[in-house]
Amino acid sequence: MSSLLTFSRSATSSARRTFASSTSSTPVLRMRARSSGSRFLFGTAALALPLGILLLSQAPINLDSSPSHPVKSSPSHQHGGHTITRKEVEKHTTKEDRLWVIIDEKVYDVTDFIDLHPGGQKIIMANAGKDATKLFKPIHPPATLEDNAELVHLVGTVPPLAEGEGMTDDEKRIAKARKALGHVDLNVNISDFEAACKDILTDKAMAYYSSGSDDEGTLASNKHSFSRILFKPRVLRKVKTVSTETNILGHKSSLPIYISPAALARLGSEDGEMNLARGAGETGIIQCISSNASCSLDEICGVRKEGQPLFWQYYVAADRPVAHESLKKAMSHDMNSIWVTVDAPVGGKREADLRVQLKENPPTDTPQQKGGSTSEQMFSYVDPELNWEDLKWIREESKGASLVIKGIGSVEDAVMAIEAGVDGLVLSNHGGRQLNGGVPPIRILQQLQAKHPELMKSTKTQIFLDGGITRGTDVLKALCLGATAVGLGRPFLYAQSGWGTQGVVKAVKIMEEEIQLSMRLLGVTSIDQLGPEYVEVLDM
Ligand code: FNR
Repeated sequence: MSSLLTFSRSATSSARRTFASSTSSTPVLRMRARSSGSRFLFGTAALALPLGILLLSQAPINLDSSPSHPVKSSPSHQHGGHTITRKEVEKHTTKEDRLWVIIDEKVYDVTDFIDLHPGGQKIIMANAGKDATKLFKPIHPPATLEDNAELVHLVGTVPPLAEGEGMTDDEKRIAKARKALGHVDLNVNISDFEAACKDILTDKAMAYYSSGSDDEGTLASNKHSFSRILFKPRVLRKVKTVSTETNILGHKSSLPIYISPAALARLGSEDGEMNLARGAGETGIIQCISSNASCSLDEICGVRKEGQPLFWQYYVAADRPVAHESLKKAMSHDMNSIWVTVDAPVGGKREADLRVQLKENPPTDTPQQKGGSTSEQMFSYVDPELNWEDLKWIREESKGASLVIKGIGSVEDAVMAIEAGVDGLVLSNHGGRQLNGGVPPIRILQQLQAKHPELMKSTKTQIFLDGGITRGTDVLKALCLGATAVGLGRPFLYAQSGWGTQGVVKAVKIMEEEIQLSMRLLGVTSIDQLGPEYVEVLDM
């Protein structure tokens, strides 16, 4: 596939870090030193990357060329230990006395790992001598410790806690609220899931899920923009039977919606992304799995139905061997589509997240080790030098899967993506979590239609959109303006947080009913009948 466009071709630097190969889908918190012994603080690594950049000539994109790249091998695993009292663990809070933490009743010596922890040293120091299970598990895939066994040493086990022992007031509040949580069918619309989550999620989880960047203007305008589109319904058309079925990148979908890739579903419930996969499988919609999923690809694929399509969102790591390896792993798990996220070369400034981090680790007058909010940690490995040229090797290494660019925020880039020959593009501002103040995706779609009607008619590139979708009518408005399907991020995170798989199924059912109802009221009986003639766009 070739492009009419020219672009700046750049070679990325090779960073001095690596991730362990594992069954996990998240490279964020899996890291070990290279055998060369080079080490550095992971949280600051991205800043070092531009040093190696080499600007090459201008050339057209050709997604069919075939570069080759080295792929790192797996580390060995290591185990050992004996029974230790919790009192004994409490003594190990300094590097001199060794830093011990308890995770799942196992005691680990993390002294050798502390300099390499992606989230910084501070968080480890703050939890040394403690049971860090509740902090660790929701944001680390299962194989994390084994993958780092060269630096994280198992020293023994502790006896289990009695029920309720060691619970904080916040945890007691949440346990009580979870017990009082009503039946899943009490959720009447998609926003009800979020309302329920305010009681059942920790402050940290709620901040991470709900936050937008800066003053959250984009978060608000994503939602508001849909109210600037009005319907022009047609009547007296036989609408008893409607079909909501569509085709997304060659895969049948029961509805023109999909689950947007959103990280750390385990912050909300134990089964995390597995709930999303089961819910998608049960309802016939498609889940796009985040690169930063808290369940491993093995876990997610373990609950995948026979023939169930799964898409995988790709954050390209600055460390290229790591980047190639994670894509290879996704492909080895039969991901049907690779969605490269391009709107997050660095993480946005999510203040709710930062405030929780500051509350958990208050500033002191002594020099601080680099820590980081949940979102800062999520992006610490992502390559800020990613560019159009990289699409070539990504296409080459993901043969058999379709290629989608996620995070297009302008008409110009949408045209570039179409001309580059990607299979799909997602108009998205990351749910208002990245650059604040951008044009809402639905507005870009409308501008694309207005400025490039011929391209929109002729292109094979499917156009998706996400951000602020909470109603069946929002979905139909986007489809009328030319979207193939739309993604929902937070609503599914919230739904699974409260009710697991059942919550996901219910959320899909709510959307299905609303889409069917609105199609009837609009006067259409199938998705392909939707078009610009059914809407009027007001100033946004
Ligand atoms: C996201 N999003 C996201 N996108 C991505 O490409 N990779 C990721 O890992 C994440 N992680 C993530 C976490 C959380 C908590 C949220 C809310 C969002 C963005 C996501 O794919 C999507 O663009 C937005 O969620 C869409 O907006 P709504 O539906 O949440 O309003």
